[in-house]
Amino acid sequence: MCSGFSDSMGLLAKLIQNKYTHFGMEEPGYHVARRVFEEYGYAIESIKVAKEGMQLDTLKSSKAKLIYITPSHHYPTGVTMSIKQRIKILEYIHSIDGYIIEDDYDSELAYYNRPIPSLQGLDNYARVIYMGTFAKSLSPALRVSYMVLPKQLLPLYKKSYDAHFPRVSITTQKTLELFMREGHWERHLRRIRTINKKKHNHFKALLQNNLKNTFEIVAEGAGLAILINPTVAFDWKQFKSLAEKESIKLYFAKERSGGEFEAIRMGFGGFLLDELEEAVKAFSNIWHKSIC
Ligand SMILES: Cc1ncc(COP(=O)(O)O)c(C=O)c1O
Repeated sequence: MCSGFSDSMGLLAKLIQNKYTHFGMEEPGYHVARRVFEEYGYAIESIKVAKEGMQLDTLKSSKAKLIYITPSHHYPTGVTMSIKQRIKILEYIHSIDGYIIEDDYDSELAYYNRPIPSLQGLDNYARVIYMGTFAKSLSPALRVSYMVLPKQLLPLYKKSYDAHFPRVSITTQKTLELFMREGHWERHLRRIRTINKKKHNHFKALLQNNLKNTFEIVAEGAGLAILINPTVAFDWKQFKSLAEKESIKLYFAKERSGGEFEAIRMGFGGFLLDELEEAVKAFSNIWHKSIC
């Protein structure tokens, strides 16, 4: 268990530093993954993500044997990688003696589709390092994540970190263990799926009713945000300045993931269902004032 995603990634980057020099990163992709591996001296290879997920041709022409992907719900575009593509990537990584870091950060929260098995679940070659977090399913404030290593990396892990103390307090670990053992976790997951699906659908309808034909939805249906863009001429400077005045915090996809993909990340996870209407009204107000 680790103290959040960057902690899990740091532990891993250090662990396999002598084995790999190049780190294949989704483009666009989660900036934290890139930053951590950069800090440990890896050369970053940006590999484009298309409709199918990470592009195999670009991957093959890169020097990366170690890759980072978000197959369940690509960050930030929302693409779900097909089983066919997952198998192709697994086969390729196996053939070059590499590893896949699978970041499965919010797969508990898919509202339309039945979840596709994780890459780690499909992996017959022990080539997947699975990263999970309690940030979306329980609370980001808890700072608890976990990493599941393939068996052959365990001796190296034990040798490297033998003298380390646990990174998550025993009290927290024990509480989580009992919570799961007593069956509360399954119930909790069902509950948050239902609540967040309701919030997602209500939020989407509010956006449609308020922004009307001035916007498009770029990603939806999973996680705790809907991504949107204007479809009309838009004064971004005015929009950002009005948002600041009204204390509306804006999140842009590009700021956190690089590449060419741009969208406004409209998070709904922090609101109660009946707070969404007022929030969208306030947003809609600055949105309409920013249309040229
Ligand atoms: C792509 C991605 N991976 C992992 C995480 C989990 O981060 P943490 O466990 O540090 O809260 C997030 C959180 O937003 C994320 O967006």
